[in-house]
Amino acid sequence: MRKLLAAVAAAAVLLAPAIVQAQSPIVVKFSHVVANDTPKGKGALKFKELAEKYTDGKVKVEVYPNSTLYKDKEEIEALQLGSVQMLAPSTAKFAPLGIKEFEALDLPWLFKDEQTYANAMKGTVGKWLFQKLEAKGITGLAYWDNGFHMVSANRPLMKPTDFQGLKFRISGSKIADQYFRIMGSIPQIMAFSEVYQALQTGVVDGCENTASNYLTQKFYEVQKDITVSYHAHLQYAVIVNSKFWSGLPPDIRAQLDKAMAEATDYTNSIARQENEDALAEIKKTGKTNLHYLTEADRKAWQEAMQPTYKWAKGRVGQEVLDLLAKELDVKMN
Ligand code: LMR
Repeated sequence: MRKLLAAVAAAAVLLAPAIVQAQSPIVVKFSHVVANDTPKGKGALKFKELAEKYTDGKVKVEVYPNSTLYKDKEEIEALQLGSVQMLAPSTAKFAPLGIKEFEALDLPWLFKDEQTYANAMKGTVGKWLFQKLEAKGITGLAYWDNGFHMVSANRPLMKPTDFQGLKFRISGSKIADQYFRIMGSIPQIMAFSEVYQALQTGVVDGCENTASNYLTQKFYEVQKDITVSYHAHLQYAVIVNSKFWSGLPPDIRAQLDKAMAEATDYTNSIARQENEDALAEIKKTGKTNLHYLTEADRKAWQEAMQPTYKWAKGRVGQEVLDLLAKELDVKMN
Protein backbone atom coordinates (compact mmCIF):
# COMPACT_ATOMS: atom_id res chain seq x y z
CA MET A 1 0.00 0.00 0.00
CA ARG A 2 2.78 2.37 0.96
CA LYS A 3 4.50 1.56 -2.30
CA LEU A 4 1.36 2.31 -4.23
CA LEU A 5 0.94 5.66 -2.51
CA ALA A 6 4.56 6.54 -3.22
CA ALA A 7 4.06 5.64 -6.88
CA VAL A 8 0.93 7.82 -7.07
CA ALA A 9 2.78 10.69 -5.39
CA ALA A 10 5.71 10.32 -7.81
CA ALA A 11 3.34 10.29 -10.80
CA ALA A 12 1.62 13.41 -9.48
CA VAL A 13 4.96 15.21 -9.22
CA LEU A 14 5.83 14.19 -12.76
CA LEU A 15 2.45 15.22 -14.15
CA ALA A 16 2.20 18.50 -12.29
CA PRO A 17 4.11 20.65 -14.82
CA ALA A 18 2.03 19.21 -17.63
CA ILE A 19 -1.17 19.98 -15.74
CA VAL A 20 0.00 23.52 -14.98
CA GLN A 21 0.97 23.98 -18.61
CA ALA A 22 -2.38 22.73 -19.81
CA GLN A 23 -4.11 25.12 -17.43
CA SER A 24 -2.07 28.19 -18.26
CA PRO A 25 -1.98 29.12 -21.90
CA ILE A 26 0.61 31.48 -23.31
CA VAL A 27 -1.00 34.90 -23.33
CA VAL A 28 -0.44 37.31 -26.22
CA LYS A 29 -1.69 40.78 -25.39
CA PHE A 30 -2.44 42.58 -28.66
CA SER A 31 -3.04 46.28 -28.14
CA HIS A 32 -4.13 48.80 -30.75
CA VAL A 33 -5.69 52.24 -30.93
CA VAL A 34 -8.60 51.87 -33.38
CA ALA A 35 -12.10 50.43 -33.13
CA ASN A 36 -12.87 46.73 -33.64
CA ASP A 37 -14.96 47.64 -36.66
CA THR A 38 -12.03 48.72 -38.86
CA PRO A 39 -9.60 46.76 -41.05
CA LYS A 40 -6.99 46.64 -38.25
CA GLY A 41 -9.58 45.84 -35.57
CA LYS A 42 -11.00 43.00 -37.64
CA GLY A 43 -7.50 41.77 -38.48
CA ALA A 44 -6.59 41.56 -34.81
CA LEU A 45 -9.74 39.56 -34.05
CA LYS A 46 -9.08 37.27 -37.01
CA PHE A 47 -5.55 36.64 -35.71
CA LYS A 48 -6.97 35.81 -32.28
CA GLU A 49 -9.47 33.36 -33.75
CA LEU A 50 -6.87 31.58 -35.91
CA ALA A 51 -4.07 31.61 -33.33
CA GLU A 52 -6.27 30.04 -30.67
CA LYS A 53 -7.59 27.49 -33.17
CA TYR A 54 -4.20 26.44 -34.60
CA THR A 55 -2.55 26.15 -31.19
CA ASP A 56 -5.53 24.26 -29.82
CA GLY A 57 -5.95 26.79 -27.04
CA LYS A 58 -2.29 26.72 -25.96
CA VAL A 59 -2.16 30.40 -26.89
CA LYS A 60 -4.69 32.94 -25.74
CA VAL A 61 -4.78 36.23 -27.60
CA GLU A 62 -6.23 39.16 -25.67
CA VAL A 63 -7.13 42.01 -28.01
CA TYR A 64 -7.34 45.50 -26.51
CA PRO A 65 -8.80 47.92 -29.09
CA ASN A 66 -9.41 51.67 -28.97
CA SER A 67 -6.39 52.61 -26.81
CA THR A 68 -7.95 50.80 -23.83
CA LEU A 69 -4.52 49.56 -22.75
CA TYR A 70 -2.08 52.13 -24.16
CA LYS A 71 -2.06 55.28 -26.27
CA ASP A 72 0.12 55.70 -29.35
CA LYS A 73 3.56 56.35 -27.92
CA GLU A 74 3.10 54.38 -24.74
CA GLU A 75 2.23 51.20 -26.59
CA ILE A 76 5.61 50.95 -28.31
CA GLU A 77 7.41 51.52 -25.01
CA ALA A 78 5.21 48.85 -23.42
CA LEU A 79 6.11 46.41 -26.19
CA GLN A 80 9.81 46.95 -25.60
CA LEU A 81 9.33 46.40 -21.89
CA GLY A 82 7.35 43.23 -22.56
CA SER A 83 4.14 44.49 -20.89
CA VAL A 84 2.35 43.82 -24.16
CA GLN A 85 3.44 41.31 -26.78
CA MET A 86 1.89 42.43 -30.06
CA LEU A 87 0.91 45.75 -31.68
CA ALA A 88 0.01 47.08 -35.09
CA PRO A 89 0.94 50.78 -35.05
CA SER A 90 0.86 52.87 -38.16
CA THR A 91 4.35 53.09 -39.62
CA ALA A 92 4.29 56.83 -38.95
CA LYS A 93 4.81 56.09 -35.26
CA PHE A 94 8.34 54.68 -35.21
CA ALA A 95 10.21 57.98 -35.08
CA PRO A 96 10.37 58.10 -31.23
CA LEU A 97 12.43 54.88 -31.48
CA GLY A 98 14.93 56.76 -33.60
CA ILE A 99 13.83 54.93 -36.75
CA LYS A 100 12.91 57.45 -39.40
CA GLU A 101 13.04 55.37 -42.56
CA PHE A 102 9.43 54.12 -42.28
CA GLU A 103 8.26 57.70 -42.77
CA ALA A 104 9.19 57.43 -46.45
CA LEU A 105 5.91 55.51 -46.82
CA ASP A 106 4.04 58.68 -45.82
CA LEU A 107 5.25 60.67 -48.82
CA PRO A 108 2.28 62.33 -50.52
CA TRP A 109 0.96 60.72 -53.71
CA LEU A 110 3.61 58.00 -53.46
CA PHE A 111 1.43 55.00 -54.25
CA LYS A 112 -0.70 55.27 -57.36
CA ASP A 113 -3.31 52.89 -55.98
CA GLU A 114 -3.84 50.07 -53.49
CA GLN A 115 -2.31 47.44 -55.74
CA THR A 116 0.86 49.47 -56.20
CA TYR A 117 1.14 49.85 -52.44
CA ALA A 118 0.59 46.13 -51.84
CA ASN A 119 3.17 45.08 -54.43
CA ALA A 120 5.76 47.50 -53.09
CA MET A 121 5.45 46.23 -49.51
CA LYS A 122 5.84 42.62 -50.60
CA GLY A 123 9.19 43.51 -52.15
CA THR A 124 12.60 44.31 -50.72
CA VAL A 125 11.62 47.56 -49.04
CA GLY A 126 9.19 45.93 -46.60
CA LYS A 127 11.82 43.47 -45.36
CA TRP A 128 14.53 46.11 -45.31
CA LEU A 129 12.40 48.31 -43.06
CA PHE A 130 11.65 45.45 -40.69
CA GLN A 131 15.40 44.87 -40.22
CA LYS A 132 15.62 48.38 -38.75
CA LEU A 133 13.42 47.26 -35.86
CA GLU A 134 15.57 44.33 -34.76
CA ALA A 135 18.12 46.45 -32.89
CA LYS A 136 15.25 47.83 -30.79
CA GLY A 137 14.11 44.40 -29.62
CA ILE A 138 11.16 44.44 -32.01
CA THR A 139 10.32 41.92 -34.74
CA GLY A 140 8.13 42.87 -37.69
CA LEU A 141 5.69 40.16 -38.75
CA ALA A 142 3.45 41.71 -41.39
CA TYR A 143 2.14 44.87 -43.01
CA TRP A 144 -1.55 45.59 -42.75
CA ASP A 145 -3.31 47.99 -45.05
CA ASN A 146 -5.76 50.75 -44.26
CA GLY A 147 -6.02 52.62 -47.52
CA PHE A 148 -5.63 56.29 -48.31
CA HIS A 149 -6.04 59.40 -46.18
CA MET A 150 -8.79 61.97 -46.50
CA VAL A 151 -8.32 65.42 -44.98
CA SER A 152 -10.83 67.64 -43.21
CA ALA A 153 -11.54 70.94 -41.51
CA ASN A 154 -14.49 73.22 -40.95
CA ARG A 155 -14.02 74.68 -44.39
CA PRO A 156 -13.72 73.04 -47.81
CA LEU A 157 -10.12 72.15 -48.64
CA MET A 158 -9.99 72.34 -52.41
CA LYS A 159 -6.96 74.50 -53.24
CA PRO A 160 -3.55 74.46 -51.56
CA THR A 161 -4.28 77.97 -50.26
CA ASP A 162 -7.32 76.65 -48.32
CA PHE A 163 -4.87 75.06 -45.84
CA GLN A 164 -3.35 78.42 -44.93
CA GLY A 165 -3.20 79.08 -41.19
CA LEU A 166 -5.13 75.97 -40.12
CA LYS A 167 -3.91 73.67 -37.35
CA PHE A 168 -3.93 69.98 -38.28
CA ARG A 169 -3.51 66.98 -36.05
CA ILE A 170 -0.94 64.52 -37.42
CA SER A 171 -0.10 61.10 -36.04
CA GLY A 172 3.69 61.37 -35.83
CA SER A 173 5.38 61.43 -39.20
CA LYS A 174 7.71 64.29 -40.00
CA ILE A 175 6.86 63.79 -43.66
CA ALA A 176 3.23 64.64 -42.92
CA ASP A 177 4.47 67.52 -40.78
CA GLN A 178 6.38 68.75 -43.80
CA TYR A 179 3.58 68.56 -46.38
CA PHE A 180 1.15 70.31 -44.05
CA ARG A 181 3.73 73.04 -43.44
CA ILE A 182 4.34 73.46 -47.15
CA MET A 183 0.61 74.06 -47.56
CA GLY A 184 0.85 76.88 -45.03
CA SER A 185 -0.76 75.06 -42.13
CA ILE A 186 0.42 74.18 -38.64
CA PRO A 187 0.72 70.46 -37.92
CA GLN A 188 0.61 69.07 -34.41
CA ILE A 189 1.35 65.53 -33.22
CA MET A 190 -1.38 64.15 -30.99
CA ALA A 191 -2.44 60.68 -29.80
CA PHE A 192 -5.25 59.14 -31.81
CA SER A 193 -7.54 58.81 -28.79
CA GLU A 194 -7.41 62.58 -28.24
CA VAL A 195 -8.34 63.69 -31.74
CA TYR A 196 -12.14 63.81 -31.42
CA GLN A 197 -12.04 66.13 -28.45
CA ALA A 198 -9.32 68.27 -29.97
CA LEU A 199 -11.44 68.76 -33.08
CA GLN A 200 -14.56 69.40 -31.01
CA THR A 201 -12.96 72.03 -28.82
CA GLY A 202 -10.95 73.65 -31.60
CA VAL A 203 -7.51 72.75 -30.22
CA VAL A 204 -6.90 71.77 -33.84
CA ASP A 205 -8.92 72.76 -36.90
CA GLY A 206 -8.55 69.59 -38.90
CA CYS A 207 -6.95 66.21 -39.41
CA GLU A 208 -6.21 63.49 -41.93
CA ASN A 209 -7.21 59.85 -41.75
CA THR A 210 -8.91 57.02 -43.56
CA ALA A 211 -12.69 56.70 -43.91
CA SER A 212 -12.91 53.77 -41.47
CA ASN A 213 -11.20 55.86 -38.78
CA TYR A 214 -13.34 58.93 -39.51
CA LEU A 215 -16.46 56.81 -39.15
CA THR A 216 -15.61 54.79 -36.06
CA GLN A 217 -14.09 57.73 -34.15
CA LYS A 218 -16.98 59.96 -35.30
CA PHE A 219 -14.64 62.67 -36.60
CA TYR A 220 -17.36 63.50 -39.17
CA GLU A 221 -19.48 64.88 -36.31
CA VAL A 222 -16.93 67.58 -35.60
CA GLN A 223 -15.65 68.36 -39.11
CA LYS A 224 -17.93 70.22 -41.49
CA ASP A 225 -15.93 69.43 -44.61
CA ILE A 226 -14.04 66.30 -45.61
CA THR A 227 -12.03 66.17 -48.82
CA VAL A 228 -11.73 62.66 -50.25
CA SER A 229 -8.22 63.48 -51.39
CA TYR A 230 -6.41 60.18 -50.91
CA HIS A 231 -3.18 62.17 -50.75
CA ALA A 232 -1.19 59.72 -48.62
CA HIS A 233 -1.36 56.12 -47.47
CA LEU A 234 -1.97 54.60 -44.02
CA GLN A 235 -0.31 51.28 -43.31
CA TYR A 236 0.50 49.32 -40.19
CA ALA A 237 3.41 47.17 -39.11
CA VAL A 238 2.34 44.23 -37.00
CA ILE A 239 5.15 43.88 -34.49
CA VAL A 240 6.08 41.69 -31.54
CA ASN A 241 8.55 41.82 -28.67
CA SER A 242 11.53 39.90 -30.12
CA LYS A 243 12.49 38.20 -26.86
CA PHE A 244 8.96 36.93 -26.34
CA TRP A 245 8.64 35.76 -29.94
CA SER A 246 11.98 33.95 -30.15
CA GLY A 247 11.35 32.39 -26.74
CA LEU A 248 8.18 30.64 -27.91
CA PRO A 249 8.32 26.88 -28.49
CA PRO A 250 9.09 26.48 -32.24
CA ASP A 251 5.90 24.54 -32.99
CA ILE A 252 3.77 27.23 -31.35
CA ARG A 253 5.61 29.99 -33.22
CA ALA A 254 5.02 28.17 -36.51
CA GLN A 255 1.30 27.99 -35.76
CA LEU A 256 1.21 31.68 -34.90
CA ASP A 257 3.12 32.51 -38.09
CA LYS A 258 0.46 30.64 -40.02
CA ALA A 259 -2.33 32.48 -38.20
CA MET A 260 -0.60 35.79 -38.88
CA ALA A 261 -0.13 35.04 -42.59
CA GLU A 262 -3.83 34.26 -42.95
CA ALA A 263 -4.98 37.19 -40.80
CA THR A 264 -2.79 39.44 -42.96
CA ASP A 265 -4.33 38.20 -46.22
CA TYR A 266 -7.76 38.67 -44.68
CA THR A 267 -7.07 42.23 -43.43
CA ASN A 268 -5.50 43.34 -46.67
CA SER A 269 -8.37 41.86 -48.67
CA ILE A 270 -11.06 43.77 -46.74
CA ALA A 271 -9.33 47.15 -46.26
CA ARG A 272 -10.48 48.75 -49.46
CA GLN A 273 -14.12 47.67 -49.17
CA GLU A 274 -14.25 48.56 -45.46
CA ASN A 275 -13.15 52.08 -46.26
CA GLU A 276 -15.57 52.41 -49.16
CA ASP A 277 -18.41 51.24 -46.94
CA ALA A 278 -17.30 53.63 -44.20
CA LEU A 279 -17.31 56.54 -46.63
CA ALA A 280 -20.84 55.63 -47.73
CA GLU A 281 -21.91 55.52 -44.07
CA ILE A 282 -20.40 58.94 -43.40
CA LYS A 283 -22.23 60.33 -46.40
CA LYS A 284 -25.49 58.83 -45.17
CA THR A 285 -25.24 60.60 -41.81
CA GLY A 286 -25.53 63.94 -43.60
CA LYS A 287 -23.43 65.51 -40.84
CA THR A 288 -20.53 66.59 -43.05
CA ASN A 289 -19.91 67.70 -46.61
CA LEU A 290 -17.78 65.42 -48.75
CA HIS A 291 -15.63 67.07 -51.39
CA TYR A 292 -13.81 65.52 -54.32
CA LEU A 293 -10.81 66.99 -56.11
CA THR A 294 -10.94 67.65 -59.82
CA GLU A 295 -7.98 66.57 -61.91
CA ALA A 296 -6.72 70.17 -61.84
CA ASP A 297 -7.11 70.45 -58.06
CA ARG A 298 -5.18 67.22 -57.55
CA LYS A 299 -2.40 68.48 -59.79
CA ALA A 300 -2.19 71.71 -57.81
CA TRP A 301 -1.91 69.74 -54.53
CA GLN A 302 0.71 67.44 -55.99
CA GLU A 303 2.77 70.35 -57.21
CA ALA A 304 2.44 72.18 -53.93
CA MET A 305 3.49 69.11 -51.91
CA GLN A 306 6.29 68.07 -54.26
CA PRO A 307 9.11 69.78 -52.28
CA THR A 308 8.44 67.20 -49.53
CA TYR A 309 10.38 64.70 -51.64
CA LYS A 310 13.54 66.77 -51.69
CA TRP A 311 13.21 67.50 -47.99
CA ALA A 312 12.64 63.79 -47.25
CA LYS A 313 16.18 62.87 -48.31
CA GLY A 314 17.59 64.60 -45.26
CA ARG A 315 15.04 62.94 -43.01
CA VAL A 316 14.68 59.34 -44.15
CA GLY A 317 17.93 58.97 -46.15
CA GLN A 318 18.59 58.12 -49.75
CA GLU A 319 18.63 54.35 -49.31
CA VAL A 320 14.95 53.84 -48.54
CA LEU A 321 13.96 56.33 -51.23
CA ASP A 322 16.03 54.38 -53.77
CA LEU A 323 14.45 51.12 -52.68
CA LEU A 324 10.97 52.60 -53.04
CA ALA A 325 11.79 54.17 -56.41
CA LYS A 326 12.98 50.80 -57.67
CA GLU A 327 9.97 48.95 -56.31
CA LEU A 328 7.51 51.49 -57.69
CA ASP A 329 9.41 52.07 -60.91
CA VAL A 330 9.26 55.83 -60.41
CA LYS A 331 11.77 58.63 -60.09
CA MET A 332 12.10 60.35 -56.70
CA ASN A 333 13.26 63.92 -56.84
C1 LMR B 1 -3.63 57.66 -36.28
O1 LMR B 1 -3.04 57.89 -35.23
O2 LMR B 1 -4.25 58.50 -36.91
C2 LMR B 1 -3.60 56.25 -36.84
O3 LMR B 1 -2.34 55.73 -36.65
C3 LMR B 1 -4.61 55.45 -36.16
C4 LMR B 1 -4.55 54.05 -36.65
O4 LMR B 1 -3.86 53.27 -36.03
O5 LMR B 1 -5.22 53.76 -37.65
